[in-house]
Amino acid sequence: MSSPSYAIPGSTPPAASSPLVVAAERPVDPTAGARSVAEVLAGTQVEAVLQELDTDLVGLSPVKARIRDIAALLVIDKLRVNLGLVSQAPSLHMSFSGNPGTGKTTVAQRMAQILHRLGYVRKGHLVSVTRDDLVGQYIGHTAPKTKEVLQRAMGGVLFIDEAYYLYRPENERDYGQEAIEILLQVMENQRSDLVVILAGYHDRMETFFQSNPGMRSRIAHHLDFPDYGVAELLHIADKTLAQQHYCFGVDAAQAFEQYLTLRMQQPQFANARSVRNALDRARLRQASRLFADRERVLDAQALTTIDAQDILASRMFQSS
Ligand SMILES: Nc1ncnc2c1ncn2[C@@H]1O[C@H](COP(=O)(O)OP(=O)(O)OP(=O)(O)O)[C@@H](O)[C@H]1O
Ligand SMILES: [Mg+2]
Repeated sequence: MSSPSYAIPGSTPPAASSPLVVAAERPVDPTAGARSVAEVLAGTQVEAVLQELDTDLVGLSPVKARIRDIAALLVIDKLRVNLGLVSQAPSLHMSFSGNPGTGKTTVAQRMAQILHRLGYVRKGHLVSVTRDDLVGQYIGHTAPKTKEVLQRAMGGVLFIDEAYYLYRPENERDYGQEAIEILLQVMENQRSDLVVILAGYHDRMETFFQSNPGMRSRIAHHLDFPDYGVAELLHIADKTLAQQHYCFGVDAAQAFEQYLTLRMQQPQFANARSVRNALDRARLRQASRLFADRERVLDAQALTTIDAQDILASRMFQSS
């Protein structure tokens, strides 16, 4: 019996106009069909997305550099396709490894946009899943679940968070293996219409790839997301507050730096996510403080300012 095929119905093969299709016969003139990088980029707004990535996201310079490299590769690839020099869709599956709150999901969304603007995926949406979305509880449940997710993700990016939970070697008959096999087939056969990004903690990802060499060999780009330093976290805090029309008042930034220094030593520290959560709580305290004084007329400055006391009232300072 032939092995089952996991082609996902509803996914379209590259259209005739796709950049991945090679023109049949090449003209003799070696410059015919030659174009410049600027011509490829014109109208794609890829540069705008890369620029936004740079300005919106603090730090992450190794990640940003890798994304620029990938974008450059894709643009050059298009130029090569034009001259009949490329015959195969590039492999764009990726792994994002890093601690919680280091920006993996955020960057995956930007990546989907870039791939879409360069014409490598039809729709450019991101479908974010974990093991439970792919793996069933009973025999026969996993294949339909995984295929349904793959179908939803076709034309975009499938982001599998904590991908290593798909593989449970301690459990002899684990259905995760079935999901992995379906993913592997689709990653190979339908890679011109779907990009898979596996994400998770660095060490566990490494163990996962060691146990699943087939998966490793299909991942072309491994991106490491470093932890943020205090200065970067403070910068993220400033940006987040500004987006919400708040700012730190006198001494509040300093108090927040002290807060971060303590918070970073806690076990559940989650980088930029912890910054966001801490600022949410500071806004609650600011609101309670303003609410308590019924007679005070609140001007814009009062309503936008997070005071040092809104930070220092955190539990983090109580134990010390
Ligand atoms: N470099 C950054 N600059 C600004 N904001 C950031 C940055 N990195 C992350 N954030 C913000 O922090 C929050 C958490 O980021 P995100 O969800 O992308 O992290 P993650 O690595 O996917 O985390 P997890 O592993 O917990 O899923 C988001 O609100 C995001 O906007
Ligand atoms: Mg995430």
